[in-house]
Amino acid sequence: MNHWLEKLFIFLLLGALLEILFSIHRHTEMTDHEKDWLKMQKDRRDSLDSICLSKNFSSLERKLDGDVARQLFVDENYKFIYCEVPKVGCSNWKKIVLLLTLNLSRPVSEVTEDQVHKTELLKRLSSYPSKQQAELLNSFTKVMFTRHPLERLVSAYRDKFLHLAPYYSTTVANEIKALFRKNKNLTGNVTFQEFVNFVVTRNTKYLDIHWKPMSQLCDPCNIHYDILGKYETLDQDVSHVLSRIRVPESIRYPDSKLYTKRTNKDITTQYLKELNWDQIQKLMKLYQMDFSLFNYSFTVRMEMSF
Ligand SMILES: *[C@@H]1O[C@H](CO)[C@@H](O)[C@H](O)[C@H]1NC(C)=O
Ligand SMILES: *[C@@H]1O[C@H](CO)[C@@H](O)[C@H](O)[C@H]1NC(C)=O
Ligand SMILES: *[C@@H]1O[C@H](CO)[C@@H](O)[C@H](O)[C@H]1NC(C)=O
Ligand SMILES: *[C@@H]1O[C@H](CO)[C@@H](O)[C@H](O)[C@H]1NC(C)=O
Ligand SMILES: *[C@@H]1O[C@H](CO)[C@@H](O)[C@H](O)[C@H]1NC(C)=O
Repeated sequence: MNHWLEKLFIFLLLGALLEILFSIHRHTEMTDHEKDWLKMQKDRRDSLDSICLSKNFSSLERKLDGDVARQLFVDENYKFIYCEVPKVGCSNWKKIVLLLTLNLSRPVSEVTEDQVHKTELLKRLSSYPSKQQAELLNSFTKVMFTRHPLERLVSAYRDKFLHLAPYYSTTVANEIKALFRKNKNLTGNVTFQEFVNFVVTRNTKYLDIHWKPMSQLCDPCNIHYDILGKYETLDQDVSHVLSRIRVPESIRYPDSKLYTKRTNKDITTQYLKELNWDQIQKLMKLYQMDFSLFNYSFTVRMEMSF
């Protein structure tokens, strides 16, 4: 009888050991993927920091800019701060922040665009007293997402002026036409060239957030973002952000394969071909910081005649 118990004990012990071994194995499998991603994140942050340092863009004493504080959405439940960059999947992020703030476990697709844009429930960092702003920035997980600067610009143009967004396709469009059409014929769409001329002649500080440089919207040299996501690696980056802040399984960011991107690399190239050398140079100057801080290259091949 004793013998039998001994055997059972050894059997159970072996089982438990095997179970432990398997779980270690599963764990390392997960961390391999995790490690690659963490390394990529570290590379992005290091590269950004060294450019900020070499260009003297960081400052220790400077107060947080009011315009930047308005771009930052805060969720206290999950201790999460998201910098809004329009044209980089920002409505989906705002929907997530809204669900988290309301503590609702619902699919993101159930929240409508209208609910996100009209809601008073989304809290911006600018609505907190400045002492608390600094505390939140020090303790919460801070996230920003970027996209190739010129693809973002083309995407903004197409959305606002060709898909007839209210205000942009009327008020802003008329302002652009009045400025850049010599014949004062105000019919027809604003062309991409007219739009670019308009963007490059404005003072950057007052540019519309849809085409203001991402580095100015989110001030990454002074706000040390924990995660630098990219539109180019959106699905991967989003899923890591959500697991980092321990968002419930039921709240999921829509899979990018489920919707077609309206603006891609080929479409961007087509629009850029319409520009002359002077316009390209001015755009490069405007978005210079975005290109260098977020490691984007200007590789769009163009057949241009100078
Ligand atoms: C910058 O981009 C290049 C080309 O896409 C890539 O090979 C490199 O790893 C990137 N560097 C950082 C720091 O992300
Ligand atoms: C960096 O900028 C600050 C003020 O913006 C200036 O006082 C300082 O000398 C600069 N440092 C370098 C190394 O350029
Ligand atoms: C959110 O709701 C869950 C139950 O659905 C509850 O356990 C949790 O405490 C709530 N969190 C907050 C911050 O209200
Ligand atoms: C204004 O331009 C549109 C197309 O851009 C053209 O069809 C129309 O005839 C022009 N109107 C005048 C008054 O020139
Ligand atoms: C304006 O652009 C839209 C979208 O590309 C197009 O359908 C429409 O015909 C254009 N309007 C004119 C007057 O060219």
